[in-house]
Amino acid sequence: MKVSKAIFPVAGLGTRFLPATKAQPKEMLPIVDKPLIQYAVEEAYAAGVREMIFVTGRHKRPIEDHFDMTFELEVALEQAAKHDLLDVVRSVKPDDMECIYVRQAQALGLGHAVLCGQRLVGNDPFAVLLADDLMIGEPPVLAQMAEAFREWRASILAVQEVPAEHTRRYGIVAGTPVNDRMIDVQRIVEKPAPEVAPSRLGVAGRYILTPGVFHEIANQPRGVGGEIQLTDGIAGLLRREKVFAYRYEGKRYDCGSKEGFLQANVELALAHPQLGAGFRDYLKTLAL
Ligand code: UTP
Repeated sequence: MKVSKAIFPVAGLGTRFLPATKAQPKEMLPIVDKPLIQYAVEEAYAAGVREMIFVTGRHKRPIEDHFDMTFELEVALEQAAKHDLLDVVRSVKPDDMECIYVRQAQALGLGHAVLCGQRLVGNDPFAVLLADDLMIGEPPVLAQMAEAFREWRASILAVQEVPAEHTRRYGIVAGTPVNDRMIDVQRIVEKPAPEVAPSRLGVAGRYILTPGVFHEIANQPRGVGGEIQLTDGIAGLLRREKVFAYRYEGKRYDCGSKEGFLQANVELALAHPQLGAGFRDYLKTLAL
């Protein structure tokens, strides 16, 4: 029960980040010096995933280019004896990692994007990572979930407590705790109003799913916002299989929002081995 494939849905319109996302996917926005998608791919790799499936939209090129070999750049760095930078460039795609691209012709929703990866995933369990949710954890959050998956052998959703006034932003789960981290999910609802939310446990952008979810997504009517929702597919799966929610250990930055993106940049810059100390001194001079 190894999770060796991951789907990265990167075909959303990213309207909250216009105009930055007019001609590039929001997953290419950098946090300090790395695009969001690279953080997510590194997290998947650390969890043992080797087959990265990108579901792309209009802006396919920047992501493909990022994980492609950049021959001229590597030659230039080699000639200039910039070996550190050469390592940085080469480490973006380790040799044992495979990148596959599939197109979502229309942004019909996250569930639809995941469904676009069905043929590539086949009959294996797989991960889904939303790169605009930047997760910082030790061990990395998907590795924590892969460990739980080995033990529980069922779909696992990353969850966190969210403020009551934010339930409309998340899929919300309710269920029975089985230990201090795992919850046996009984219900999942997409973006409920606080008055009707079954709990305050919101799903973050990390999932390990069994392939049965594809059939469920394909058989759901359009959900909230007229979109084909992953949450509705998972609600269908719940009727046939066990699904667990996992309270991850770590911090999440909602980089699909400008506030979360700015917070991630500040906090990761402060934690950066080379930039951190100087940046801290700079922030002090602002004396806010
Ligand atoms: P969001 O709900 O954040 O939507 O998608 P969005 O369109 O990207 O951004 P806003 O709300 O307009 O600013 C969550 C994730 O699902 C992907 C997005 O790329 C993002 O990673 N997604 C969403 C798709 O790949 N396809 C879709 O049809 C919808």
